[in-house]
Amino acid sequence: MPPRLIPRILRVNHAGEHGAVAIYSAQLAHARRAHPDLIPWLEDTLAHEQTHRTRFREAMPARHAKPCRLMFVWSFGGAALGALTALGGRTGIYVCTAAVERTVHKHLVEQIAFLDRADPALAQIVRDILVEEDAHLAHAEAHHNTNGIVARALAAFVSAATETLIFVSTRGDSLRLRSDMRANSPPPCGEGPGVGVTAAPLQSTAPTPPIPTFPRKGGRS
Ligand SMILES: [Fe+2]
Ligand SMILES: [Fe+2]
Repeated sequence: MPPRLIPRILRVNHAGEHGAVAIYSAQLAHARRAHPDLIPWLEDTLAHEQTHRTRFREAMPARHAKPCRLMFVWSFGGAALGALTALGGRTGIYVCTAAVERTVHKHLVEQIAFLDRADPALAQIVRDILVEEDAHLAHAEAHHNTNGIVARALAAFVSAATETLIFVSTRGDSLRLRSDMRANSPPPCGEGPGVGVTAAPLQSTAPTPPIPTFPRKGGRS
């Protein structure tokens, strides 16, 4: 396994959590003026994202990882994304949350499949965080019509913006990381070719609880 793979995972995740903090901070500022009923939920969600960011940051030194240098991309981009979608009112806020958390879910599930063998302690951190991310997603989807035309168009925009911000803030490493995880996924003990020889399927054999799939509300994925 390349020695830099796990630091890169941490760098991407830490940047993403920083972005989530920026998004929810902007939405909370808007909600304080226009949607006070959303304040408790947004405060809880923001607190979760701050904790996630801290957990990834604290996991960095032992793994010789450092935060990415372009965190300001997320500071401004996340704030803009949060403020822009908040202009759409409650629906805008919930659509943004659902789209961001769905993107996060996809990244974290892929990472857990890799980390279960490569770094079980970090895999557990990611797994813990995934539980809260999925709760954010479930709450957001339960509070808006995910099949509405506006909601679907806005969700597509937010998903693309989120992936773009991850890509830019990591200077393209988020895409390379994905393929590198596949190419360097350690084979189960006593099976298959050596590390890095082929793209092993991302299926963990570790005795850990299964990760639920998260079908889109309304049957779409
Ligand atoms: Fe998070
Ligand atoms: Fe989240």
